[in-house]
Amino acid sequence: MKNVLVTGGAGFIGSNFINHILDNSDDVFIVNLDKLTYAGNLENLKVSQNNKRYKFIKGDICNYELVENIFSDYKIKYVINFAAESHVDRSILGSQVFYHTNVIGTNVVLELSRRFEVERFLQVSTDEVYGSLGATGLFTESTPISPNSPYSSSKAAADMMVSAFYHTYGMPVLITRCSNNYGPLQFPEKLIPLMIINALNDKPLPVYGDGMNVRDWIYVLDHNIAIQTVLEKGTPGNVYNVGAKTEKPNIEIVKLILNYLNKSEDLIKYVSDRPGHDKRYAIDNTKIETELGWQPSFKFEDAIGKTIDWYLANKSWWEKIISGEYRNYYDTQYGKR
Ligand code: NAD
Ligand code: TYD
Repeated sequence: MKNVLVTGGAGFIGSNFINHILDNSDDVFIVNLDKLTYAGNLENLKVSQNNKRYKFIKGDICNYELVENIFSDYKIKYVINFAAESHVDRSILGSQVFYHTNVIGTNVVLELSRRFEVERFLQVSTDEVYGSLGATGLFTESTPISPNSPYSSSKAAADMMVSAFYHTYGMPVLITRCSNNYGPLQFPEKLIPLMIINALNDKPLPVYGDGMNVRDWIYVLDHNIAIQTVLEKGTPGNVYNVGAKTEKPNIEIVKLILNYLNKSEDLIKYVSDRPGHDKRYAIDNTKIETELGWQPSFKFEDAIGKTIDWYLANKSWWEKIISGEYRNYYDTQYGKR
């Protein structure tokens, strides 16, 4: 049995990961350490919660003693560090918690992974560490790191720390840098779920700037299979970009969602731009494809429909969220624009 520590497993990508892995392999035992911030939700894990190969622990990755006890109690051999503050807009409103969790927290998990001699430590990073592209070109693993937001700079700092532990201690670390994810269970502050839910509620859809910023989209399950592939087959010390060659301007996504839901484009509201808004992200995934044999298997045209259908079928999941803390956040934000 492989004992795996998953941090941040109650969030969007981590919960999809745990639900998928427990359903598809029988030799893993997963310990999920999650602080349950506004973005963590145990409802995301209801299909896994009674599985004998799953243990949830509520706690902070910055808590050294707690994380140390987990390593010693559960004989952890593999670590996947998903836990993070993950939203750029929030990082602009207040950056401290981003550096605390994403840098200090990663240091705690990394340092203890070294002390307990784990076989693999995988840092879930982002293409945003590379900064912004112009109209052409793609991010490769050798593109210089040049982050522009408090969020992306905190992730870049963590990546550098993880690499330093490889060079200094020979630790078996791996880093994945993935593009923008979409799919079920994504907290409705990010573009796609926010637009779906606002459209369903006939509320304005706030498009930043001219709507022509480009993101490269990947279905969450494709990202998670890439993480599993890198964990199992990646070469220690390496970075692997993960993307699905699906570049879209934001406005195209927004119009697609409105069209799918039979809603009027009059709901679109252009609002003032995000400060420091990165213009374009686009991933070259040649390395993971050629070296590890991973390829994305979901087509955007199908998976976006599947995603919208999930939000239509799971109204109670997001209604609880938007009637709580998130509601206040959205109103404050939107009022400012
Ligand atoms: P999310 O915000 O949905 O979930 C983050 C989870 O981490 C939550 O469950 C939260 O409770 C937990 N957490 C936060 N601070 C913690 C702490 N101090 N201790 C323990 N748990 C804590 O984020 P996500 O979208 O699922 O992203 C997961 C990871 O993937 C992040 O590291 C993010 O940088 C990376 N990533 C995300 C995307 C994307 O499109 N969402 C793309 C590339 C990489
Ligand atoms: P987001 O989902 O926040 O991801 P990221 O900033 O990490 O790429 O935003 C995706 C794109 O959508 C980004 O260019 C900003 C834009 N956006 C809007 O236009 N309106 C919104 O309300 C949000 C949340 C994002």
